[in-house]
Amino acid sequence: MTNILCIGAGYVGGSTIPIVASHCPQHRFVIVDINEARIAAWQSDKLPIYEPGLDEIVFKTRGKNLFFSTDVDKHIAEAGIIFVSVNTPTKMFGQGAGKAADLQYWEKTARQILENSTTSKIVVEKSTLPVRTGEAMERILNSNSKGLHFDVLSNPEFLAEGTAVRDMENPDRILIGGRETESGQKAVETLVELYATWVPRERIITTNLWSSELSKLVANAFLAQRISSINSISALCEKTEADVNEVAHAIGLDNRIGKYFLRSGVGFGGSCFKKDILHLVYLCEHYGLPEVAAYWEQVVTMNEYQEMRFVSKMVSAMFNTIAGKRIALFGAAFKANTNDTRESPALEVCRALLEEHAEVVITDPHAMENARYDLGELAKRITFEPDPYAAANGAHAIALVTEWSQFAQLDFEKIHAAMVKPAFIFDGRNLLDHNKLYEVGFNVYPIGKPALTHLHAQ
Ligand code: NAD
Ligand code: UGA
Repeated sequence: MTNILCIGAGYVGGSTIPIVASHCPQHRFVIVDINEARIAAWQSDKLPIYEPGLDEIVFKTRGKNLFFSTDVDKHIAEAGIIFVSVNTPTKMFGQGAGKAADLQYWEKTARQILENSTTSKIVVEKSTLPVRTGEAMERILNSNSKGLHFDVLSNPEFLAEGTAVRDMENPDRILIGGRETESGQKAVETLVELYATWVPRERIITTNLWSSELSKLVANAFLAQRISSINSISALCEKTEADVNEVAHAIGLDNRIGKYFLRSGVGFGGSCFKKDILHLVYLCEHYGLPEVAAYWEQVVTMNEYQEMRFVSKMVSAMFNTIAGKRIALFGAAFKANTNDTRESPALEVCRALLEEHAEVVITDPHAMENARYDLGELAKRITFEPDPYAAANGAHAIALVTEWSQFAQLDFEKIHAAMVKPAFIFDGRNLLDHNKLYEVGFNVYPIGKPALTHLHAQ
């Protein structure tokens, strides 16, 4: 039996380690965090994150070979393998502010590991880190006079929120990077063995430490780039009466392009895409590659343009003013099937609508609590309404910004009847049946498709 520790009980630590624990009953897993409320929630019946299928796995393993604790020091001392999944946000001060990775949480963890260790250990970077962070981690850890040796591995996480359980149960690949030394390779093999309990060997790939660290940033940059690419085309579609869904389908059938990640919408959100691209941009600038940096930065610029284009379209369609108009925002989460609102386009749209002095009502099946928290002071100016029918009651417009499937099941005749006329619907995710909405009487504004409006005829 090995004591396996995970430092950081956030989305990554909290959704991956229980799955590893469920496959490896021979090992003992502890997830620690400095956030007491978060640990208390992991120990309760209402887990702090909403992730389909996760409750069942946590309830099955918790108290058997999976434990949650705030006693970081004690569990470091006992562990043989330590996963580090603390947050690595964008630095908001000093050099690199707004772009570079803020590594303070990560470095504190490295020092804490060193202070509390009495045996040699494998330390696994699970957080997303700038390439060559492992080198700094090795230097801190191996600068000890206790005669201890630490092998640092990189094992980036590729799960997407909302499908975390599925992604972890059946991953496309597990990536493990390590040093090409004898002890480095032995550490890599130990981690490979752990994953091989349920992941086919051919899907576990091993690389050097730097390739693994960099691959994670590059994977997110490529995924986000596809979304910005199709979103840029959505703007052109709206000018030319081409349909972005038809274009995406047509190009996606080319195997070289592929069909995934070509859904045009109000923009990408989530805690990582923007952050990781900006970290990549900063790294390129740091290494004297300004052209490469500018190339990737454009992916983020295009995303911001798409969010603001959506709001501009609302204002111009609604006779150039939305001041004092009630607008029902359908969705707050950055995508469906998660309660996460970090960097959510829904909240960006919300902020812009408030700037236009609109009266905003937010409805979301799971993310209202986080939305309220993320919006801070602005939340006082917003109505949070769990029932979408009540949210739309008396509204001039609906802006659908998260693709919850429940929104597509709503009775839009009933909703239309209770709205101010002319009633507008802006479908920021192309989720709804636009022709049907038009027949009901709505003026419909999809993304990357011609609007369906009754206004010209009047
Ligand atoms: P998160 O903010 O949800 O969780 C991080 C946790 O670490 C927090 O609960 C925080 O209290 C804790 N923490 C910070 N410093 C600590 C310390 N010294 N000791 C103990 N706990 C400490 O973040 P997350 O979404 O889980 O992301 C973690 C990392 O994984 C980031 O680098 C992120 O880029 C990466 N990642 C995230 C996702 C995702 O879907 N969210 C997917 C892949 C990779
Ligand atoms: C993303 C990656 O998909 C994961 O592989 C990665 O591990 C993770 O980031 C991370 O490093 O944090 P996630 O942010 O959870 O996962 O969700 P995605 O499904 O990638 O969606 C991100 C955003 O892009 C959402 O706002 C979504 O609505 C949007 N999106 C996605 C589109 O607008 N169009 C698409 O075709 C796909």
